Amino acid sequence: MFPVDLKSDTVTKPSEEMRKAMYAAEVGDDVYGEDPTVNRLEEMAAALTGMEAALFLPSGTMGNLVAVLTHCGRGDGAVLGADCHILNYEGGGLAALGSVVPLVADDSSGLISPEEVRRHCRPSNVHFAPARLLCLENTHNRRGGLALSPEAVRASAEEAHRLGLSVHIDGARIFNASTAWNCSVKKYAESVDSLQFCISKGLGAPVGSLLCASGSFIDAARHWRKRLGGGLRQSGILAAAGIYALEHNIDRLREDHENAELLAHLLSEGRVIDVEHNEKPTNMVYCGVPEGTCVDLHLRCAARGVLFNGVSENRFRLVTHLDVSREQVTQAAAIILEEAAAS
Ligand SMILES: Cc1ncc(COP(=O)(O)O)c(C=O)c1O
Repeated sequence: MFPVDLKSDTVTKPSEEMRKAMYAAEVGDDVYGEDPTVNRLEEMAAALTGMEAALFLPSGTMGNLVAVLTHCGRGDGAVLGADCHILNYEGGGLAALGSVVPLVADDSSGLISPEEVRRHCRPSNVHFAPARLLCLENTHNRRGGLALSPEAVRASAEEAHRLGLSVHIDGARIFNASTAWNCSVKKYAESVDSLQFCISKGLGAPVGSLLCASGSFIDAARHWRKRLGGGLRQSGILAAAGIYALEHNIDRLREDHENAELLAHLLSEGRVIDVEHNEKPTNMVYCGVPEGTCVDLHLRCAARGVLFNGVSENRFRLVTHLDVSREQVTQAAAIILEEAAAS
């Protein structure tokens, strides 16, 4: 039953059935467009999002970077949330490789609101980097895995479009969002220009992301992927895991959300941990503890087989996924509470 790894949904390991699908994959050279399994995965991703085309990439980071580089040129501005993944955890790639200027917006609600989009679209003037792109994140990682509604995304995207910006969604966990809102991912995709989702998180594949957009955008994005060294050869081995994930692991995300809800409930009952709430939770639980106690709690729990990540001196994150059962969640909550009470 232990250890139970609640660090992230990226820690999932490919199941036996997924590995069999990988073993059996028909492959070719994808840089020539000749890998039938990659082509099939890209077609599936396009169909699921309702977009014209899709591109298979090694990671979400590369998916976002390729999207930004395709949307923006040197000196262009991208409106990004202060708490978003692209700005905080992707090595500054947009600036390092694209000379794109981050226009840092307030996303403390999880959304960059239409007003906030307007605020960053300053008039055309030689003093300002022209805003070209709005990036939204859904679900929003640092906002506790909050799922934005299709309507909220649409409102900000429409305002961005009205102001001449393109819109990209970092949808690393967009299927968690669509599960939480009980809607199709198409509902998000229809109001934006590009959307990246990861198969290597809650969907359980070992590697990969799909960038979905119009056919012409994906043609340009394919060029950027190659420039960045992301053109892979017989990557059908990896794409097969993605096909398996999309066919088998979307509907079960609901279980992860239920397990996270149980975890949040059990932890709040203990009254020693401050469990953060958001209006549309998914598979993450963020918790507050007294300043300076997070590292100690993390080490004590790890010693008892409950693994998680501290995000600051007084905040930690627990993530449920397909390798975590309801029983493990119950036991993990008990251990965390015992250790928190003892610290
Ligand atoms: C919201 C978000 N976007 C993008 C990424 C990047 O994905 P990858 O780790 O595949 O580069 C992550 C990774 O955790 C994420 O949480």
